[in-house]
Amino acid sequence: MTRVAAILAAGKGTRMRSEEPKVLHPVGGRPMLWWVLEAARAAKCDRILVVVGHGADRVRAALDAPDVTWVEQREQLGTGHALAQVEHELEGEGQILVLSGDVPLVRASTLAELGEAAGADWGSMAIADLPEPGTLGRVFARADGSLDRIVEASDATADQLETHTVNAGIYCLPFPEVFEFLSRLSTENAQGELYLTDALGAAAAAGRSLALVELADPGEAIGINDRADQARVHRRLLDRKIGDLQRAGVSVVDPARTQVEPSVEIGADTTLHPDVDLNGATRIGSNCTLRQGAWIRDSVLADGVTIEPYSVLDGCQVGPGCTVGPFARLRPGTVLGEGSKVGNFVEVKKSTLGPGVKAGHLTYLGDATVGEGANIGAGTITCNYDGVDKHRTEIGARAFIGSDTMLVAPVKVGEGAVTGAGSTVTQDVPSGALAVERSRQRNVEGWASRRKRKKDPKGG
Ligand code: UD1
Ligand code: CA
Repeated sequence: MTRVAAILAAGKGTRMRSEEPKVLHPVGGRPMLWWVLEAARAAKCDRILVVVGHGADRVRAALDAPDVTWVEQREQLGTGHALAQVEHELEGEGQILVLSGDVPLVRASTLAELGEAAGADWGSMAIADLPEPGTLGRVFARADGSLDRIVEASDATADQLETHTVNAGIYCLPFPEVFEFLSRLSTENAQGELYLTDALGAAAAAGRSLALVELADPGEAIGINDRADQARVHRRLLDRKIGDLQRAGVSVVDPARTQVEPSVEIGADTTLHPDVDLNGATRIGSNCTLRQGAWIRDSVLADGVTIEPYSVLDGCQVGPGCTVGPFARLRPGTVLGEGSKVGNFVEVKKSTLGPGVKAGHLTYLGDATVGEGANIGAGTITCNYDGVDKHRTEIGARAFIGSDTMLVAPVKVGEGAVTGAGSTVTQDVPSGALAVERSRQRNVEGWASRRKRKKDPKGG
């Protein structure tokens, strides 16, 4: 049998109070619609149709999904009208899995269950028991347990609002028959809209049986209508991820204070301390320790890495056993070799540090290559930018860069070479050489006490 997914995503989402189309607002690091699409993909439908309207071009561009057929709903007249738009895309008969672009916690397993239940009945829909049902539609069943009708919160009586059984906005319905019920909808309700929910009530009244499938995790039914809902759903996506990580052997010291985007991978026996924030295409090995406030995006950390507190890593690769921070900033293009150490207030950009390199304090390394075992003294700076172009600095293996060395690029320091503290190095340094660039020190004997007497002639 043909099974298609139709995702309703054309609404304006007025209560978000945003210029951005609602379904593009992010949860778990992705637009909310992305999550719904992923669920539809996992449900292995023959086709995926997405109904767009408000900000349609932006939505299409942001999702960039070649497997989707985009259907336009020019005027947003309600969910029933939205679903009616896909009719001309369909031929023959089959099932439509209807999803809402603003209900992103939906699981693929729920869609499979709905498909099965609809197979045995006319159709099916997901319901949930929520302690705070809020503005969700209330669901009423017939004596045989199938759907009687759905009453929108804005149309409900005080009595009806007492019901905590809500419509999750996820359905499996037979086509083409459902379009007959949709074509007979009217806008006689509080919102003046064509409600998809009324079409289902009409189908039930005409003797069709809709199975009510109760969600095992009622949280799946949370739809995003405003920013508070968005934050709630975001937190749930993170909690799901943290649960998965914990089951896979990752220690999360304080889950409520930890952010791990669902795209991130982490190995066993790694520990995440509070306020760790992991984003994008980040992969972290086993036996790593990420201390308080580590912020990491699109980076790969090998096994046994320690990130000390309040370090920021973006687009870098960190080799096995490295230590980074506290207060380090690794910018895109940073590669740290095995066992290297980048310490306090060190910034690294587009640079490769070989194994065992140490850059412990107050340093900037940009556009540099640093050979194995080199030691970068406190306050060293690669002067990589001349105001027009960026230039490279090369530091050989086991070189010793004295504290406060300015390396004016392009410049090369040879293997095992040494630079004297406080030197401004503008010429290449041969291997094994010492480069010193600073004026000789002069000591003026008794100068300090003479100055004192000058200022205070009577004083001792
Ligand atoms: C809808 C249901 C409600 C259910 C809730 C679940 C109706 C009438 N009500 O209410 O019973 O509890 O979802 O979250 O269906 N949309 C369009 N075109 C439109 C209108 C809406 O594509 O003309 C899309 C929206 O972008 C959204 C989805 O349909 O993704 C749901 O619409 P929304 O207005 O948020 O409905 P709710 O009031 O939440
Ligand atoms: Ca909604």
